[in-house]
Amino acid sequence: MSTTHTAARQAMGRRTTVTLKIVMAVTGIIFLLFVLAHMYGNLKALSGQSAFDDYAHHLRVLGEPLLPYSGFLWIMRIGLIVSLVLHVWSALQLNRRNRGARSQKYVMKKSVTSTLSSRTMGWGGLALLLFIVFHILQFTTLTIEVGGSFDSPYDRLVAAFETWWLLAIYVLSMIALGMHLRHGVWSAVQTLGWSNRKRQPAIKATALVVALVVVVGFLVPPLAIAFGLV
Ligand code: HEM
Repeated sequence: MSTTHTAARQAMGRRTTVTLKIVMAVTGIIFLLFVLAHMYGNLKALSGQSAFDDYAHHLRVLGEPLLPYSGFLWIMRIGLIVSLVLHVWSALQLNRRNRGARSQKYVMKKSVTSTLSSRTMGWGGLALLLFIVFHILQFTTLTIEVGGSFDSPYDRLVAAFETWWLLAIYVLSMIALGMHLRHGVWSAVQTLGWSNRKRQPAIKATALVVALVVVVGFLVPPLAIAFGLV
């Protein structure tokens, strides 16, 4: 193979890698926006039954009469499913490319920028995928009913988090989410070219704060329920 041919192939390979990383960053940002909105919505459980149930109802009639009943939710669901498929597919492609690019195994496994969060992106991502499947079976399709069967979303939430093992699953999953977000936010900022050396400490701190806000924000309603505060 000629040198120019090899150089052209390498340049194309680099472009594909960059495209895959951009897809990961953009779909990751879509998830982050959803997660922040969802977390904020869940906090309405602290204001009591009618606040939470009204909120769940409003989500379904949002955009009516322009949109049909649950139309907004379906647009969101389709957007999330497309993002999820692209996010996971790009992660697998990037992983394959990284392995292929390595002619021999790393002698030194830990890189300078490696953190627990960055090293657990693959397994953490898989755990989150399992959590999302479980979560949808529980709260959307109502296939898994924990604590009993209820018509009111608020009653479902309270009954569920009075169950200790369910609380444990959610606590562990939210910690996994926080770790995934911490590295994900940092990584997306690098990919999108918003970073430079001077900004690194601020970016790292922001990623940590975002992760902590999401973990604490999501866990407050379940813990408040478990400790009988709501
Ligand atoms: C403590 C954490 C969480 C709690 C208590 C919680 C609670 C709920 C509840 C009650 C619903 C049903 C809402 C309704 O039908 O009106 C729901 C739906 C959903 N949640 Fe969560 N959630 C949590 C974390 C998460 C996380 C981290 C994600 C994603 C990464 C997520 C993704 C979803 C999705 C995709 C739906 C389905 C929306 C739909 O299609 O109707 N949730 N959640």
